[in-house]
Amino acid sequence: MSVMVVGGAGYIGSVAVERLLAAGESVVVYDNFSTGNRGALSQEAALVEGNIHDTAKLIDAMQSHQVDTVMHFAAYIEVGESVKNPIKYFENNVMGAQSVLKAMHDAGVNQFIFSSTAAVYGMPDEVPITEDAAIGPINPYGLSKRMVEEMLEWHGKAYGLNHVILRYFNACGATQAHGEAHDPESHLIPNILFAASGKREKIMVFGDDYDTPDGTCVRDYIHVEDLADAHIKAMEYLRSGNESITVNLGNSIGNSVLEVIETVKAVTGKDFTVEHHDRRSGDADKLVASSEKAQRVLGWTPKKGDIRTIVEDAWHFMQSHPHGYED
Ligand SMILES: NC(=O)c1ccc[n+]([C@@H]2O[C@H](COP(=O)([O-])OP(=O)(O)OC[C@H]3O[C@@H](n4cnc5c(N)ncnc54)[C@H](O)[C@@H]3O)[C@@H](O)[C@H]2O)c1
Repeated sequence: MSVMVVGGAGYIGSVAVERLLAAGESVVVYDNFSTGNRGALSQEAALVEGNIHDTAKLIDAMQSHQVDTVMHFAAYIEVGESVKNPIKYFENNVMGAQSVLKAMHDAGVNQFIFSSTAAVYGMPDEVPITEDAAIGPINPYGLSKRMVEEMLEWHGKAYGLNHVILRYFNACGATQAHGEAHDPESHLIPNILFAASGKREKIMVFGDDYDTPDGTCVRDYIHVEDLADAHIKAMEYLRSGNESITVNLGNSIGNSVLEVIETVKAVTGKDFTVEHHDRRSGDADKLVASSEKAQRVLGWTPKKGDIRTIVEDAWHFMQSHPHGYED
């Protein structure tokens, strides 16, 4: 019996592989390295190099590795790009997921853990955000994830697919071996660390008149190791025969952009230019998860929620991998 990690050469998938191996699981990574890195692969995991659109290859890999659970991380993740090029996002994130689900159906695999996102909520009315908050994605990326969530409901009803939908907030941090190496990098913490290490000239803050204590946007930062561990809890939950569920994964702690900048300055001991600009459209004041359901139903508690720990781990990874992964 093994776990297939689709997108296991990417940021979050590679940490999930690391944690699954540490938990004694047998793992097969399925990835085409479109945004992932060969250097992020763990030696002890099997690799099938392929595209998620190749349903036959997926079926073959699931059968030959006796897969019982699929964790599906593979997707494109750039919100801004999804607005400019929605075809790319619907094709990879929706049609690609449908190919994985068809392969599971044909191979007789019926446990699925899906990387969804807080972006399905769009601009929520209330914070902390619970799983029954109104759904309203405001970009093709968020919609692509919502479409898969809806597909899963019907796969569950028609074929008995058991699934856990995990709606992540802002993944960040690193383990010693695995961290964030996106190209381009659009996430806040690595970009502030680039400014601290001189790889970026400055950091721009968009809006300082939001309804938050210091006026800058507040987001929920969740350590990638905590995220990976939630996948293992979700897998155990399904293996115990429990029903399909949707849960948020966040710290329930919000940190403002300025707080994150100050933490980076304190951790790195470096100063850098911070430029203030007008608000961007589509940014909510506060996006903070209620993770009460994940704690109650999955028995998951974030252990590395403190922003200083998150920044320290990301900084150590960046220092030990100054050019990202070598591959
Ligand atoms: N990073 C975040 O903060 C965040 C937040 C919410 C949700 N998510 C979701 O988590 C998942 C993983 O995010 P990430 O930051 O690790 O992304 P990533 O780009 O680092 O990893 C994605 C992996 O999937 C692979 N992949 C993509 N398309 C593929 C295809 N057609 N065939 C085979 N492999 C393919 C890539 O090569 C890469 O290894 C995504 O589904 C993303 O939407 C991420």
